[in-house]
Amino acid sequence: MAEIAVIGAGYVGLTTAACFSHLGHDVICADIDEARIAQLVRGEVPIVEAGLEALVREGLEGGRLRFVVGAANAAPSAEFAYLCVPTPQGDDGAADLAYIEAAAREIGPVLPSEAVVVNKSTVPVGSTRVVERVLGRDDVVVVSNPEFLREGSAVHDFLNPDRIVIGSDDQSAAVRVASLYIGVTAPIIVTDPPSAETIKYASNAFLAAKVSFVNALAAVCDAVGADVKDVVLGMGYDTRIGHEFLKPGPGFGGSCLPKDTRALVHIADSAGYSFDLLRGVITVNEDQFHRVAAKVREMAGGSLEGVRVAVWGLTFKARTDDTRESPALRIVSLLAEQGAEVQAYDPAVKGPIGGVVPANDPYSVCDGAQVLAVLTEWDDFRWLDFDKVAGLMETPRVVDARNLLDRPALERRGFRYVGIGR
Ligand code: UDX
Ligand code: UDX
Repeated sequence: MAEIAVIGAGYVGLTTAACFSHLGHDVICADIDEARIAQLVRGEVPIVEAGLEALVREGLEGGRLRFVVGAANAAPSAEFAYLCVPTPQGDDGAADLAYIEAAAREIGPVLPSEAVVVNKSTVPVGSTRVVERVLGRDDVVVVSNPEFLREGSAVHDFLNPDRIVIGSDDQSAAVRVASLYIGVTAPIIVTDPPSAETIKYASNAFLAAKVSFVNALAAVCDAVGADVKDVVLGMGYDTRIGHEFLKPGPGFGGSCLPKDTRALVHIADSAGYSFDLLRGVITVNEDQFHRVAAKVREMAGGSLEGVRVAVWGLTFKARTDDTRESPALRIVSLLAEQGAEVQAYDPAVKGPIGGVVPANDPYSVCDGAQVLAVLTEWDDFRWLDFDKVAGLMETPRVVDARNLLDRPALERRGFRYVGIGR
């Protein structure tokens, strides 16, 4: 069992820390946010993530997981130091390494000899070298070990990964990092750092491309009168295509896909390649926000001026409380810009956000509404009482931007219904 320091207690850092302690390692997780650390020390997890609170408590009770303020307090006894701090997007579209460099600068002087520093955050190609330079330690190796966690299923994804990717020019360091995943069954890809760093961006960019492809396809289906659900069903049986990640919707969002696709376009530009295909993926995504807002405007009779719109869903997807780069929030602001009065509900969002103060229940937002827009695919919405919803609304009209609801059942209840590509 190893001594692991995890720097950054966010979605990625906290999941990494809790899962490594679950695998039996001794983990010290650090963050600069004192309030967050105080909560975690009490066993309270400040994010909605299935199974994470139980693992954090298990680690605390087993004495294998500790939380401290400040990276330097986690590193002195660490054989491995995982960097899980933000890599936000800079003004030029590139990922900003300031937090990564700050963390490396802080732990550099206190790390024991032969320690391995691991980049888990999504960092541009070449960042392993940047961290090595900042550390300035010949006796410390830097390795890339990107995460592929999905929010909402991060714990499952960490313990049951499709693959583990390790980028290092030092084979023994690569083997040491691989050994940390004891008890986890998955293919381990050991390659050089630039390839490992590129695997992460390429994977997110390809996932984004699938979403933009199916949203563009849905626009074609709308125009030719086809049903995108059946089209995707027919396509997906081709095992070269598959059914995964081909659900049409309001566009892709979250803390990763938008940022990472833009960053990869920037990486390619800096390397002299114009990644026009990926630019197209980003443009289609931007258009999708406007297409959904246009569907709401059409359902309202052509203008949104003074129209009451009920919105279900504000998070970027279901099963998370994360609203970072949420398509729902983009669409809500487009509707408001066009004069609509938006009332919104989301089971995981309580405080004011994006110009709206979420209601406490899904029915009250429908009171007197002329259009209901479903923007996040929370399963709860499917089981609501639509006779009651129809009774509350001024006009029972639905724009289902997640193709989540049962169209025939709603139409039987007098709703006008439009989806995405159907
Ligand atoms: C982060 C990155 O944003 C993402 O690019 C990367 O792929 C994985 O790590 P996430 O865990 O979702 O993703 O970020 P966030 O939830 O914002 O957590 C980052 C944590 O780092 C925060 O708790 C923040 O307080 C902490 N932090 C930030 C530090 O401890 N030190 C710093 O210098 C900056
Ligand atoms: C993503 C990657 O899946 C994960 O591997 C990586 O580590 C981090 O980024 P996450 O941000 O949690 O994970 O979201 P994901 O589940 O991938 O969804 C991304 C966006 O695409 C969401 O807005 C989602 O609603 C949308 N989406 C996804 C679709 O619109 N249709 C789909 O079929 C799938």
